[in-house]
Amino acid sequence: MMQPLFISIAAVAALSAAQELPQGYAPIPVPCPTDLQWVRPAVGLNPAEADWVQGRKPVVLEALRTYLERLELADFDMGEYIARLNDSHQAHVPIIGMAISGGGFGSAFTGTGAMRAFDGRLPAANTQRTGGLLQTLTYLSGLSGGSWPTVSFTAHNFPTADEIVDYWKPEIDRIYNVENTTADAATEVTMFEQIATKFEAGFDVGVSDYLGRAYAYEFIPGEEGGLNTTYSGIRQLSKFLSHEMPMPIIHLAEVGSGDLEYDGLWVPQANRSLFDVTPFEFGAWEGSVRAFTPTEWLGNRLSNGQPVNDSVCVRGFDRDSLIIGSSADAFNFWYLEAVSNDTLGQFAKRAVTLSDLDGIIEGFEEVFGLNLTQSAYAVYPNPFANLSLSSGVAHTAPELTLVDGSETGQTIPFWGQIQPARNVDFIFAWDDSQDASPYSWNNGTNLYNTYRAANATGLPFPVIPPVNTLMNMNYTTHPAFFGCNASRTTTGDERAPIVMYMANAPYSAYTNYSFTQSATSREQMQEIFENSFNIVTQGNGTWDAEWAECIGCAVVERSLARVGMQRTHQCTRCFERYCWNGELDERTPAVMNPSLILDPSEGFAEWNATNPF
Ligand SMILES: *[C@@H]1O[C@H](CO)[C@@H](O)[C@H](O)[C@H]1NC(C)=O
Ligand SMILES: *[C@@H]1O[C@H](CO)[C@@H](O)[C@H](O)[C@H]1NC(C)=O
Ligand SMILES: *[C@@H]1O[C@H](CO)[C@@H](O)[C@H](O)[C@H]1NC(C)=O
Ligand SMILES: *[C@@H]1O[C@H](CO)[C@@H](O)[C@H](O)[C@H]1NC(C)=O
Ligand SMILES: *[C@@H]1O[C@H](CO)[C@@H](O)[C@H](O)[C@H]1NC(C)=O
Ligand SMILES: *[C@@H]1O[C@H](CO)[C@@H](O)[C@H](O)[C@H]1NC(C)=O
Ligand SMILES: *[C@@H]1O[C@H](CO)[C@@H](O)[C@H](O)[C@H]1NC(C)=O
Ligand SMILES: *[C@@H]1O[C@H](CO)[C@@H](O)[C@H](O)[C@H]1NC(C)=O
Ligand SMILES: *[C@@H]1O[C@H](CO)[C@@H](O)[C@H](O)[C@H]1NC(C)=O
Ligand SMILES: *[C@@H]1O[C@H](CO)[C@@H](O)[C@H](O)[C@H]1NC(C)=O
Ligand SMILES: *[C@@H]1O[C@H](CO)[C@@H](O)[C@H](O)[C@H]1NC(C)=O
Ligand SMILES: *[C@@H]1O[C@H](CO)[C@@H](O)[C@H](O)[C@H]1NC(C)=O
Repeated sequence: MMQPLFISIAAVAALSAAQELPQGYAPIPVPCPTDLQWVRPAVGLNPAEADWVQGRKPVVLEALRTYLERLELADFDMGEYIARLNDSHQAHVPIIGMAISGGGFGSAFTGTGAMRAFDGRLPAANTQRTGGLLQTLTYLSGLSGGSWPTVSFTAHNFPTADEIVDYWKPEIDRIYNVENTTADAATEVTMFEQIATKFEAGFDVGVSDYLGRAYAYEFIPGEEGGLNTTYSGIRQLSKFLSHEMPMPIIHLAEVGSGDLEYDGLWVPQANRSLFDVTPFEFGAWEGSVRAFTPTEWLGNRLSNGQPVNDSVCVRGFDRDSLIIGSSADAFNFWYLEAVSNDTLGQFAKRAVTLSDLDGIIEGFEEVFGLNLTQSAYAVYPNPFANLSLSSGVAHTAPELTLVDGSETGQTIPFWGQIQPARNVDFIFAWDDSQDASPYSWNNGTNLYNTYRAANATGLPFPVIPPVNTLMNMNYTTHPAFFGCNASRTTTGDERAPIVMYMANAPYSAYTNYSFTQSATSREQMQEIFENSFNIVTQGNGTWDAEWAECIGCAVVERSLARVGMQRTHQCTRCFERYCWNGELDERTPAVMNPSLILDPSEGFAEWNATNPF
């Protein structure tokens, strides 16, 4: 993805000689706090998160009422439902999440389009009665490309999608051919200078820092590409404090010895721990780490839950840019795919060539003297060493080695939301992982993989049929619900959320543009937004006039039982149409190559002739 770097030896010497580098990207030394609980076992919810969720409930209740008033479900006593939810300190208010898959600039923008179609601030969304659901979310999770909107919306204090595009200026390319550093983009030299401040302060640096810096000029607020904007800082933003935005959750995967190794690079096994990063804490719920540390204090090396150096601690490691760069750091995969002619490190994505990667590898070699295995991963000082709650390298190593959360095969970031401590009732899952080759649509593999992993781990999740069935049932071109009935969940009870699966597909535009497309015109963004709007609303109800109500039925379903109300006839009808009923169709499906769903007469060639992207 990178242009070859042209960093002169003089520039390298100047960098390494500079003792008085500005305090920019480097974590800042501070006295160690004396009253901090440095780690907590992964049991139950973090108390600060629990308080925040409690504070979010009355706001969600109000948003749910506004949404349901517009929706007007048939034979549903909305007033009674809201009143019952309000009883007992809103304990029964549904906890709703949205998860945006990986898929680079593809999922980042199509997923933003889906958020937009649920936004009660968009009049067209309210007309279609999907508007208002964004306001009911308690959690918003993302990984890889999906982490960009997830962090961006929350770090920008939750603007609308149309507003955020003006902040992003997506038409500017931050990756290739940046000639001069401006407020909107930085040259490679500038970014290496920024990263050097962290390196000089004694921290490992690598590709995750570089990618993060480049993407941050688009997605992160603050001067110099949000240089000093921290992820834990989201807690101080007004709409977070007033509980008017969802809480972001970002996923990273761990790699290390014990994983498969090729050319000196690791590829995580599917059962590797997925890390959960929220503005409150960083850690994992199960696997090699079963503990969390405060995100604000990331960057400190701990042993058995105490700082190794207790006279000087650091803050400011958790830059937003590092978080989005780490979550999207699939460098090991790209490299292995490139050197092995696509036989190793298989991802859905096959657009990166070795020459694209050379520049960045050389840069780390030239500037920092780091070889490929040293710069490929996101390396964080390990907060979990010598803990009874960690094992393997996470127990013994001074650093945690982290990569793109997609690499365990779960590109839709469900994992944090299906932890029983979070009690999530309903998840909007947006899939644009582009795993259906060769046309980069979706085949549901990642949804299925999470079901398999959840079942193997004992976590509640809907049962998901295999990919052939998902494709043959058209669930990868039209939204569907999973887990409506408790019998079709891994635990056989109502602890599993209902999942509404939506895959990017061509409704009004062919939105299977490359995940590496690093500049996007406003015209194309409008087409992407309209296409996602058409997916979410099913062509403004042209596919099924009752679709909007069916979404509402699924959203309230889990909470209905808790407040002693019955599923309505309308909702029963909806569930017959949209809930997977256990049927399998395992015939080999046709290649995913749909024509425009709202206008099948317009094939790609015809559309492409009039649309310059
Ligand atoms: C919930 O109950 C409280 C206290 O009775 C009341 O002030 C509030 O308006 C109710 N909220 C809703 C959404 O009904
Ligand atoms: C970059 O700066 C140089 C020197 O000031 C200028 O000549 C050039 O036009 C600039 N390039 C861009 C893309 O702005
Ligand atoms: C970040 O830098 C800006 C100026 O560039 C400054 O106003 C702000 O206080 C800084 N924030 C933090 C958290 O250091
Ligand atoms: C992960 O899978 C590998 C290979 O199947 C196995 O050897 C290892 O024990 C598993 N690890 C865990 C934590 O289950
Ligand atoms: C702790 O870190 C500071 C700053 O890097 C250093 O000066 C000091 O020697 C360290 N103390 C110990 C005990 O390692
Ligand atoms: C890579 O694989 C493709 C398809 O299998 C094959 O056509 C091509 O020759 C291979 N290239 C190299 C350099 O091995
Ligand atoms: C990179 O350097 C480290 C430390 O010297 C070494 O262990 C590792 O094998 C090197 N990797 C490669 C690919 O040369
Ligand atoms: C679905 O996608 C996965 C991941 O790219 C791929 O391995 C698999 O072959 C695909 N299956 C079908 C039926 O397209
Ligand atoms: C899936 O869509 C195709 C093409 O529109 C259609 O022919 C087929 O009947 C659909 N299958 C199901 C199960 O709805
Ligand atoms: C979960 O996995 C077990 C063991 O492989 C299997 O027997 C069981 O059928 C699975 N349950 C579901 C609901 O998929
Ligand atoms: C649905 O409504 C949106 C917003 O008004 C519009 O952009 C879109 O083209 C409409 N779709 C259809 C199929 O009419
Ligand atoms: C789409 O159109 C562009 C010109 O706008 C052309 O370069 C490209 O080859 C076309 N793609 C396909 C697959 O026809």
